[in-house]
Amino acid sequence: PYGIAVLGTGSTAPETVVSNDDLSEVMETTDEWITQRTGIRRRHVLQPEESLVSLSVKAAKKALKDAQLAPEDVDLLIHATSTPDDLFGSGPQVASLLGAERATAFDLTAACSGFVFALVTAAQYVRSGAFKNVLVVGADCLSRFVDWSDRSTCVLFGDGAGAMVITQTEASKDALLGFEMGSDGHGACHLGVCAENEQSVSVGGGKVASSTKFTPLGMNGKEVFRFATSRVPKTLSKLLERSGVAPEEVDWLLLHQANRRIMDSAAKRLGVPQEKIICNLDEYGNTSAASIPLALDEAIREGRVKKGDLLACCGFGAGLTWGGRRLLT
Ligand code: ACO
Repeated sequence: PYGIAVLGTGSTAPETVVSNDDLSEVMETTDEWITQRTGIRRRHVLQPEESLVSLSVKAAKKALKDAQLAPEDVDLLIHATSTPDDLFGSGPQVASLLGAERATAFDLTAACSGFVFALVTAAQYVRSGAFKNVLVVGADCLSRFVDWSDRSTCVLFGDGAGAMVITQTEASKDALLGFEMGSDGHGACHLGVCAENEQSVSVGGGKVASSTKFTPLGMNGKEVFRFATSRVPKTLSKLLERSGVAPEEVDWLLLHQANRRIMDSAAKRLGVPQEKIICNLDEYGNTSAASIPLALDEAIREGRVKKGDLLACCGFGAGLTWGGRRLLT
């Protein structure tokens, strides 16, 4: 078996920015409410003529450049998203537009845990030797799936994409030190973008649904908050304990960027100091599957996260799903 090496990262967000003040002009909300309850100040949103695929390609290009690999070097591309341009999957299009003509590509959906699930999946292929160079992209455009008249949800989300290139190395140099994943469908009702059948047509002796649409994102914020604040520290402490790492050995805590209060609470329960939290929530809001690679890439560009740093990372979200990993950059 091989080990995993991280070769590079890249990220991007749409140019159009919507501030909390912009929102307060069109709905009953204030910058103060949003900032205090969530830590979010701005979010980037796709314009109607833009696509998620173009965002994913942009982030993927940057990651390849950082990894010093050519598109033809990519063997596998996993596109983690819940909001593809095409419900059949956008990964193959991302690969083709990138010029990754040799790559096998597919989509993986696990909401805000998507990037962690995709990275862990990618790692299994690399470990087994099935694929060598894998590009993992996390991208979402939830701005297209929220109800812009529902202040309790639309203020939370933004669009973005982040990517990471991993490859084979010696097993003794493995950068992915451990992972922990889980899901609980009983909580699906707390957060979802659900298919809705508006019409049906009679065929043969029965009926089939037609004109299927999606309901705007619905969320029980309090339940999701409760789930995240209990599940995230549990997942990470299990992970650290299993691999014999003390909380003080963790260089960075990299959590899904949903709410600053969730991050603070997890850090406190884990015994990790606040200054070790990587957070760019103020600029982007919750970008779902993009949030972890976007925050990591920015922290690397800013020179905060350095080669050899130990990261404790956890995604959580709809499904309900959660996944954690420890990664050496
Ligand atoms: N502006 C002003 N007031 C608001 C807004 C707003 N944008 N939104 C809600 N309110 C009001 C509510 O109507 C309510 O008013 P009321 O008391 O008169 O009824 C009041 O503010 C308090 O609302 P709560 O929902 O109790 O606020 P809370 O402190 O729980 O914060 C929040 C809400 C921020 C959504 C929080 O529950 C949260 O972050 N939950 C987790 C959400 C999350 O992480 N989701 C993403 C998961 S990832 C994924 O897979 C997509």
